[in-house]
Amino acid sequence: MNRRRWLRLAAAALPALARASQTVAEKPLTFPGKRPLLVHNDFPEDLETPVEYFDTWITPNDAFFVRHHFPRPRPAADAFRLRLDGMVAQPVTLTLEELKALPRYTVPATLECAGNGRGNFRPRMPGLQWTKGAIGNAQWTGVRLKDLLHRVQPAAAARYVTCDGADTGVGKTPDFIRSIPLGKAMHDATLVALEMNGEPLPALHGFPARLIVPGWDGASWVKWLTRLSVAEQPDGGFYMNPAYRYPRRAVAPGTAARPEDMEVIEGMTVKSFFVRPADGAKLPTAPVTLAGVAWAGEERITRVEVSIDGGSRWRDAELGAQDFPFCWRLWRFTWKPAAAGYYSLLCRATDSAGRTQPIHAAWNPSGYLWNAIERIGVLVEG
Ligand code: MTE
Repeated sequence: MNRRRWLRLAAAALPALARASQTVAEKPLTFPGKRPLLVHNDFPEDLETPVEYFDTWITPNDAFFVRHHFPRPRPAADAFRLRLDGMVAQPVTLTLEELKALPRYTVPATLECAGNGRGNFRPRMPGLQWTKGAIGNAQWTGVRLKDLLHRVQPAAAARYVTCDGADTGVGKTPDFIRSIPLGKAMHDATLVALEMNGEPLPALHGFPARLIVPGWDGASWVKWLTRLSVAEQPDGGFYMNPAYRYPRRAVAPGTAARPEDMEVIEGMTVKSFFVRPADGAKLPTAPVTLAGVAWAGEERITRVEVSIDGGSRWRDAELGAQDFPFCWRLWRFTWKPAAAGYYSLLCRATDSAGRTQPIHAAWNPSGYLWNAIERIGVLVEG
């Protein structure tokens, strides 16, 4: 083909190419069992829940955020084995049927990624730029970890349970392994869950078994569980150190923290956000319900306040009736805008430990635990 003919053909093909690439770009990515979510990564799946889906106390499975570090494993139910070993008198390996035959408990609990809100920090840091939706509240059903531990009988010197799932690191990336102190492992609400909101755990959320560590950040909630090993020391791998650590004393934004100041994240901070209205909404000059969620890790939400004037005056919101440990609480506030105009709406939560959301979230090198007072803007039209 001569050069001129090639150029003519290429020019003729351009509109079709443009259409094709548009079709590819516009085709929404879909994931098994999920309605459209905000896609940070499609492989492995890192999916954020859009804030407007949070209008119910329970987050449905098809709306629940997803976070994992490696391509997800696909364990078959009949090949599943959970091994309990380490510093124990009687190691045991359980099949799924054996796990299912044990007494079951249901615990409602809010699961939040430690990096939720990372996208708000300035200066930015590497990592998934989550906004609000790396969080959800579900009913988890399964076996108490303490019942399994009683069965294997930890040694007197044991202090930790190290948890591994069926996923493995890619190339030189280390395996995702986490340890939790024996005290938390023995808590009544810490489960090896088999169900999420009354259904078998979905594949994206750790089928067939995952850990539920209520009140603690998502990193401890190990999915696709295969092994629980009792030990005197926590695991020394990457996902315990340096990952998922927070500086004991605040560091200047953009600077490094001293490794000896970095502590494992356990319980979560106090936090709230607006679900309704949407940021940037246009509203008529009529009463409107401001609504949202608030949560505080192992603490309870005792108060949510709302300001409609950028933080000059604060008024109490009404707290939702569902008040369970380890769960977020819904809140609402009826606002009657007095006049047309632009309003800065703020919400802030206080918890049972007396903690209130700060104006500025403490910058930290990995961008964990963002919890600054939430602000949205709305335009009331007259
Ligand atoms: N478990 C395994 N095996 N591998 C992982 O990468 N990610 C953890 C945790 N459990 C992870 C895991 C992190 S960081 C979070 S926030 C939660 O799973 C997210 O749980 P979800 O995907 O069910 O929402």
